[in-house]
Amino acid sequence: MAGIQWGLDFYTGLPEVDRQHQWLFALINRLHDAEKLEPETIDQAFAELQDYVREHFTLEEQLMAEAEVDPEHQAQHRAAHAGFVARVNTLWQARTDGSESAAAELLEFLTYWLMQHIRHTDRKMALEIHARMGTQAPHNMFEHF
Ligand SMILES: [Fe+2]
Ligand SMILES: [Fe+2]
Repeated sequence: MAGIQWGLDFYTGLPEVDRQHQWLFALINRLHDAEKLEPETIDQAFAELQDYVREHFTLEEQLMAEAEVDPEHQAQHRAAHAGFVARVNTLWQARTDGSESAAAELLEFLTYWLMQHIRHTDRKMALEIHARMGTQAPHNMFEHF
C-alpha cells in the first residue's frame, strides 16, 4: 500500500490543524516505509502516532468549543474521534497479542480513516469555525469541497 501525500483537498485553513495533519501524514508515511525496520521501531512509531492523534483530537475539540460550533456537530465529531481511538486500541491489542496481520491492518485503517476524516469531517468543521470566527480560508482551497 502506498503512502499518502498532502494536497489541497486536505486543507482546512486552520494553521495548527493543518500543521498537525501534515505531521500525521509524515508519521503514517514513516510506517508505510517501515517494512524493513525492526519490530521495535514499528511499535515505537505506532505508539508515537497514537499519542499524537489524541493530542490532535483534543486540539480540534477545543477549537470547536471555542468557536461555539453547533453542539450537535461537535458531538458527532467527538464521537467520530472516539470511535477511531476505540478501533485503533482494538487493533493495537491484536498486535500486542501477536497477530501477524494486525500491524498492516492497523496501518491501512489509520491511513484511510484519517484521509476520509480530514477531507470531510475536519473540513466541514473548518468551514463552520471560519464562518463563526469571521475568518476565511482562501476560496480556491475549498473548491473541491
Ligand atoms: Fe484532524
Ligand atoms: Fe477531526
